[in-house]
Amino acid sequence: MKKIILVMSIVLLVALVMWLIMQFNNGTGQSGKTEYQASNRDEEISIVDMDDLENQAAAVIPVGGMGYIQGGAETESTMRRNETAFDMVDIYPRVMTGVNEPDIKTSILGIDISLPVIAAPAAAHGLAHVSAEAGTARGVAVSGTIMSVSTYASSTLAQIAAAGAGAPQWFQLYLTKDDKANRQLIQNAQDLGYRAIILTVDAPVGGNRFRDVRNNFKFPLELPNVPRASGKTQGQGIGQIFAAAKNVLTPYDVMYVKSMTKLPVIVKGIMHPDDAEVAIVAGADAIWVSNHGGRQLDGGPAAFEVLEEVAQQVNKRVPIIFDSGIRRGQHIFKAIAMGADVVAIGRPVIYGLALGGWRGVVSVFDYLKQDLRRVMWLAGTQTVEEIKKVDLRPHCVTVQCGEI
Ligand code: FNR
Ligand code: LAC
Repeated sequence: MKKIILVMSIVLLVALVMWLIMQFNNGTGQSGKTEYQASNRDEEISIVDMDDLENQAAAVIPVGGMGYIQGGAETESTMRRNETAFDMVDIYPRVMTGVNEPDIKTSILGIDISLPVIAAPAAAHGLAHVSAEAGTARGVAVSGTIMSVSTYASSTLAQIAAAGAGAPQWFQLYLTKDDKANRQLIQNAQDLGYRAIILTVDAPVGGNRFRDVRNNFKFPLELPNVPRASGKTQGQGIGQIFAAAKNVLTPYDVMYVKSMTKLPVIVKGIMHPDDAEVAIVAGADAIWVSNHGGRQLDGGPAAFEVLEEVAQQVNKRVPIIFDSGIRRGQHIFKAIAMGADVVAIGRPVIYGLALGGWRGVVSVFDYLKQDLRRVMWLAGTQTVEEIKKVDLRPHCVTVQCGEI
């Protein structure tokens, strides 16, 4: 009898431990298995403040995926600064200007867009929603703007192109160490109708993302566009995936990509005027000012803090795209006034996707359209070109205010 009780207790204990392990793995992405449950919502979302989306999305994205999407490098000081930096400058409202229904349409590299905001490239949208990048592409197309697609997307380039149904899309390239694979990636994107190559140069190695380390986060899904030679991506962490990519980058890489394609090449991840110069000399058709949403080097400035200097160096020779911390109309306005031609959003698109599928992505762009229009109206600017002429002033509560 005692033996039976002992055996049953052991069986029960083992079952309990197994159940606990399953609970722990499910949602963290740790197991790298198929328990990962991304959202399948399909609805418009109502947005009061874009910052609210983060908490709302955390309720529908499993912990490991959420940590990967939301997180930045180390203590996330640069990531936080990305958003607060916009408060360092003020828009002085102009009134009695006769402005009426501001026009937010603009264009970039020959592509007309409905607002000066595009979708930044971001890996693995499948972590947020079952429709993955195909869902995002549909939402972005309906919103009338440009979809940037990461090499580390979780839908295939062909699926994303099909979902975009002819709407403009750009392909973001992480170079591999293999010349043949690089050529194939670019050729494939070109054949599918992608209209520019974004070469990201700020990630020769992954930033130290404490959230991912603590969650032991591994991709629970395959990233189908990563060249096969790099191995299976499911079950790998982002650090391993970066390690398999090209880790030494120089201006010759810009020339190398230029030599493989007739498409415009945009160099993404510029945070210094000298690097903008180097990229332009190497053939960049556009400069993308970004600190990768604070996910790479922590302890550096907000992207907005370097924008003006970079724009002065670029001096309108090529267009400037800006990202990192854009969450509202005044941010878009300030970035354009500081020298950007268009801005991009990363996390808000993914949160919109998680909360409402492609319709949620449309809601995010609708919110920014409405908010930007209102800011322009209140500031007294009729068009995006007029924003470029606005003189922003340093925030002057603590320092003596200068003459207006
Ligand atoms: C990114 N980003 C990014 N950039 C890139 O060039 N290739 C990539 O694969 C990725 N992947 C990626 C995944 C996730 C989950 C995020 C949040 C971001 C960076 C992205 O393009 C952009 O620079 C930042 O997201 C902009 O900052 P905000 O808008 O998220 O604050
Ligand atoms: C990231 C990569 C993939 O930020 O760019 O996670």
